[in-house]
Amino acid sequence: MNIDIKNVDLSTVEAMIIPVYQDKVNNCEWVEKIKKSNAFKGKEGEVFYFTKEEGGLKYEILVGLGEYEKSSAEILRSSIAKATKKAKELKVKTLGIQFTESKNICVGGTVKAIAEGSRLALYTFNKYKSKKEEYDVDIFISKVPEEKIAKATERLEEVNNIIDGVIIARNLVNEPANVIYPETLASEAESIGKDSGFEVEVFGEDKIKSLGMEAFLTVGMGSDKKPKLIVMRYMGDKDSEEITGLVGKGLTYDTGGYSLKPNDSMKDMKSDMGGAAAVIGTISALAKNKVKQNVIAVVAACENAISGGSYKPGDIISSMAGKTIEVLNTDAEGRLTLADAVTYIVRKEKVTKVIDVATLTGAALIALGETTTAVVSNNDEFYGKLIKASEKTGEHFWRLPGYDEYKKMIKSDIADLKNVGGRLAGTITAGLFVGEFVEEKPWLHLDIAGTSWTSTPVSEYVVKGATGAPVRTLYYLVKGPCGCGSHK
Ligand code: BES
Ligand code: ZN
Ligand code: ZN
Repeated sequence: MNIDIKNVDLSTVEAMIIPVYQDKVNNCEWVEKIKKSNAFKGKEGEVFYFTKEEGGLKYEILVGLGEYEKSSAEILRSSIAKATKKAKELKVKTLGIQFTESKNICVGGTVKAIAEGSRLALYTFNKYKSKKEEYDVDIFISKVPEEKIAKATERLEEVNNIIDGVIIARNLVNEPANVIYPETLASEAESIGKDSGFEVEVFGEDKIKSLGMEAFLTVGMGSDKKPKLIVMRYMGDKDSEEITGLVGKGLTYDTGGYSLKPNDSMKDMKSDMGGAAAVIGTISALAKNKVKQNVIAVVAACENAISGGSYKPGDIISSMAGKTIEVLNTDAEGRLTLADAVTYIVRKEKVTKVIDVATLTGAALIALGETTTAVVSNNDEFYGKLIKASEKTGEHFWRLPGYDEYKKMIKSDIADLKNVGGRLAGTITAGLFVGEFVEEKPWLHLDIAGTSWTSTPVSEYVVKGATGAPVRTLYYLVKGPCGCGSHK
């Protein structure tokens, strides 16, 4: 699949997608004629296609964008996604997508939305099918205003690297746990680092032990697959002392341990490294785009399995920070690995702010469903920046409260902390547990248990299975405001 900016028409491509506002006159007279019929009005998400005989069978695919005043990148993204899937159904090998000017989207934003909608909608994970339905298409964004082509080309290059990051995350999560385990996740990170231009250092058991990461090691103890601490560094701004720390939960499989999950809850737990996949995808996009920021990402990768050596409910363990933890449930393992990963990134990598990304609680899924990531934070300004970034991407986030009463719920009678706070407010107490280790740094905790994996497609360009969330938002959050004026 390739996407480029190039003027094409039906003499050079097999199909042309034409986005149409319902209440704005389209320059093509025939489009206006069709809008006057009952076949197609240009309503949001409406798709209409017809065939033309121009040296072979060709297709015009009209897609509705709704009202011009209400235009948004999200509407454009999903409309393009829908139309692109129609082109796939028609087995189109060369596809033009007409650039369309929108009230609330700049030229760069338009090109980005077109690329995101088409590439993300065409994503499939079919490498394990012996009979694959192969589909490949060359896409051309046509009719970009002449004077805007240079800027649009730049933006297309940027967004392609971001989409590559999303696809990296989707692929890593979709791979099963017999293929992606700590060692292979680490080697994937190394090869992605080589391709994208970031440094990767991998620590084995001995080094992890010598760092005192007892909470992390304890979770991985029951598995034959040995834990790895994966450290990724991209220093894009040597003049700045600021470093954003990204910590991704990297449970390559979560059986629950002795607090064993029932099969229905366990079967998708290859996705419990969704946070790790997201931070790898994000740092890759940042590095490829040579963004002027410093970022360090850390993944404490291990598997939560059962054996004679596994940890048990009731165990009391220590952590790199020295805080002791009463383990009441071995299925609340993510926060134990994150506690040490956060301590490591703050103390050893000297990051100035922390974002942890984790498939942490089923409660997040119950509270917010599969479309919205739950957030816990100690910093209003940092949260505000996250929301600003998310307005660009269409990914949703919602902050939960972090009042002191909730913090009391994870204090233990016999140790400093306990790893579960009871049945109530499960997403908050899990987040606040991680917050105990951030040492006052501005911090965002993103619980992606609901959003990184979906049982049904939640939008036109998010497919079933791994979604790659929240790579796109993390990219813009770390990069900072683009300065092109606010747009949706
Ligand atoms: N990996 C799970 C959380 C999860 C659940 C992710 C569903 C994706 C979909 C996590 O390790 C877990 O098992 N959490 C427990 C915590 C509980 C024991 C306090 C949960 O949510 O039930
Ligand atoms: Zn668990
Ligand atoms: Zn887990």
